[in-house]
Amino acid sequence: MSLEIHRGRLFHFPHDTHSPSEQYQYFDDGILVIKEGKIIDLGDAKDYLQAHPQSADQITHHQGLLVPGFIDAHAHYPQIEMIASFGQQLLDWLHDYTFPTEMKFIQREYAKEQAGLFLEQLFAHGTTTAAVFATVFPQSVDMFFEAAQAYDARMICGKVLMDRFCPDGLRDNPEQGYLDSIDLIERWHNKGRALYAITPRFAPTSTPQQLKKAAHLAHKYPDVFIQTHLSENIKEVALVQQLFPHNKDYLDVYESAGLLRERAIFAHGVHLTDSEMQRLSTSGATLACCASSNLFLGSGLFPFDKIKQSGTHIAFGSDVGAGTSMSLLANLADAYKVCQLQHCSLDPFEAIYHCTQGSAIALKLQDKIGNLNVGTEADFIELNPRAFPMLEQRVKGAKSLQDELFALIILGDERVIEQTYVSGVKVFDRNKHQLFHPAFSATNPS
Ligand code: GUN
Ligand code: ZN
Repeated sequence: MSLEIHRGRLFHFPHDTHSPSEQYQYFDDGILVIKEGKIIDLGDAKDYLQAHPQSADQITHHQGLLVPGFIDAHAHYPQIEMIASFGQQLLDWLHDYTFPTEMKFIQREYAKEQAGLFLEQLFAHGTTTAAVFATVFPQSVDMFFEAAQAYDARMICGKVLMDRFCPDGLRDNPEQGYLDSIDLIERWHNKGRALYAITPRFAPTSTPQQLKKAAHLAHKYPDVFIQTHLSENIKEVALVQQLFPHNKDYLDVYESAGLLRERAIFAHGVHLTDSEMQRLSTSGATLACCASSNLFLGSGLFPFDKIKQSGTHIAFGSDVGAGTSMSLLANLADAYKVCQLQHCSLDPFEAIYHCTQGSAIALKLQDKIGNLNVGTEADFIELNPRAFPMLEQRVKGAKSLQDELFALIILGDERVIEQTYVSGVKVFDRNKHQLFHPAFSATNPS
């Protein structure tokens, strides 16, 4: 199998760090060598070419910046058709828009079409791994993983567990949800690059019996992920208090059931107490900051600095369709503004760290994704700092790499994603839209 040699500016975080602004690796003229979907070398281009004078043709990325593909730690693939739905906060938004939309996923063909579109859009927005909610219907998980498999993409997904406070057609029961999840785990987890997540939607839509069953699964399959929502909205927190009067707080509902552990991703955490933050940190679980969603639904301000001080793993999630962009750059820009409102400034190195290496470490996937280290899977993107005139002008005057990254975050979105590579194969090129997989493409004729 031949080598592919990419040449351009390279930037990533090779290690676990609390100081991303000091612990990054950058090559102004770098080389990234790919073989059979893995990174087998990276370094300075001149050094590499001197040592390997017979090197194959290079793929030159001119002024582009090559970085690891972004990791979206929380999204809902069935919700892209109802993104930007007007006027409600969380509980009414779920009732009025989300549940009716998710009903449609009982149809396999519909789920297949939406899964294909969602993946195309992820790649077009620079995301190469996402932790994704499907719906309560097991076939919606099959359709998602089949589409991801066609691209050999590393994706995390799970069937929603939901046995109350939802329309009849969307309700499972503790035993059926448990059996369906086992069947999906056995068929999909670690099949190729697929990873399964046990997915109780959130405390209000699961009975204590269902949460117990979910915890049985988590115990039976310790390397499977868990994903759910936590403390997003004030009325939701009050509802949880009412529904679980014997639990000391929201997190305790999950914790006492047995769902607080490593590889558990809790989305939001906007209204956590100090005690909840501390217990999250001790458990090794991950909080997904979903700033765009929190602004859109009026949920509140993610307390980034306090969470960071607590030592809890932080990742970023688009939470589409409550989030209004699949671009993690746009989500980072929202997170920056959310931090400003709380009198702290989110450093651009730290922001990029938490949607690449930091997120991979939180999910225990750093030997596979999130960085450009030798031996990892070749998921990377080319950012184009000259994607449009205003950005180009701003970047031309950039005083430092930090300044350039900051401009990319604040002004950038999917327009700056020039190319996306998954397992070493180009799956998106801004200038050539026909790259999407024909069997799953919603936007290209097959
Ligand atoms: N809480 C429970 N379900 C959802 C959902 O689909 N989106 C968001 N943002 N919060 C939730
Ligand atoms: Zn969500």
